[in-house]
Amino acid sequence: METKIVNLEKKNKNISLLKEAGEIIKRGGLVAFPTETVYGLGGDGLNPESSKKIYAAKGRPSDNPLIIHISKTEDLEKIVTEVPNNAKLLADKFWPGPLTMVLNKNESVPYETTGGLETVAVRMPSHEMAREFIEYAGGFVAAPSANRSGRPSPTRGKYVVEDMEGRIDMILIDDSIEIGLESTIVDLTGEIPCILRPGIITKEMLEEVVGRVETDRAILNPESKEPPKAPGMKYRHYAPKGELQIIEGEEEKVIAAINRLVMEEEKKGKKVGIIATSQSLACYRQGVIKNAGDRQKEMEITRALYRILREFDEEEVEVIYSEAFTKGEFSQAIMNRLLKAAGYHIIKV
Ligand code: TXA
Ligand code: MG
Repeated sequence: METKIVNLEKKNKNISLLKEAGEIIKRGGLVAFPTETVYGLGGDGLNPESSKKIYAAKGRPSDNPLIIHISKTEDLEKIVTEVPNNAKLLADKFWPGPLTMVLNKNESVPYETTGGLETVAVRMPSHEMAREFIEYAGGFVAAPSANRSGRPSPTRGKYVVEDMEGRIDMILIDDSIEIGLESTIVDLTGEIPCILRPGIITKEMLEEVVGRVETDRAILNPESKEPPKAPGMKYRHYAPKGELQIIEGEEEKVIAAINRLVMEEEKKGKKVGIIATSQSLACYRQGVIKNAGDRQKEMEITRALYRILREFDEEEVEVIYSEAFTKGEFSQAIMNRLLKAAGYHIIKV
């Protein structure tokens, strides 16, 4: 299949391109598109054949449900049995934006989209061109992250091209991705809202709007035998090709430990990478050193993380050491992704 790749940076041509992309979705095709979190791989969420194609293009198990992206809040009620009050409150506060809500689906949503579940995950992105595209596509775009299964979610158009060229109809590129980590997922089908995937909309932010919120126990304790409630969270996601380990502890001890480990691995002839921050960058002496950003500006870190993991792959780095990110508002979201990428390999110093 030939994939049409277009850059949305030439603002004047966008309307016709977004229309063309929308038409592809309506005809049952697939289009990758930018959002404020990560690139999505879109198909018509109400067309079972489109969802099957998405799974095939990603190489993803089809029991892993997709998020339906909408362009206006009113469209939510068209695909769920009921919009509970908490969902209204959260939509008012956080949509458009990086929040996905799980609700009971109605008959218009095929099981192919929900991986056989009676519930559906819905999100309205804040990325304006994404919303325009969704509108032209008929309003309900099912989209997982636009990576091949098992690779880090793409935050750059070139990574979407790398993973998806030849497998889908069109790729829309706009690299002004702000957040770089996937949306927070909150399940609203139970009595108490429950976070199934942490993101930059935090538990505290949700609690300000709806009162008590829980977090899926499988997220809090990855060693627990309980399966996560978001089926996708069970897979080994976001894994770089190199062996990633996280070093946690006081800043100076972490830096000293990483410097020592890098030296040892390099002696063995290994190519070694380091995930550092603006604060620590100057303290590392050897290895492929990447700056994830300023610890005081956490969005720099969220935006950089997946890009850095991909770059280590490109540079064929064999062993990677990362500082931990356990302080700050987004630490749960960042550590959730980093720990998965590391296969939960963490060294405390
Ligand atoms: O930021 C995002 O959410 C990005 C962009 C493209 O919007 N999308 C994304 O999709 O991250 P994906 O498919 O990579 O992750 C969706 C997650 C999976 O872990 C899946 O299991 C969970 O959402 N999920 C989807 N529908 C669900 C449902 N009905 N119940 C529980 N979990 C669900
Ligand atoms: Mg994904």
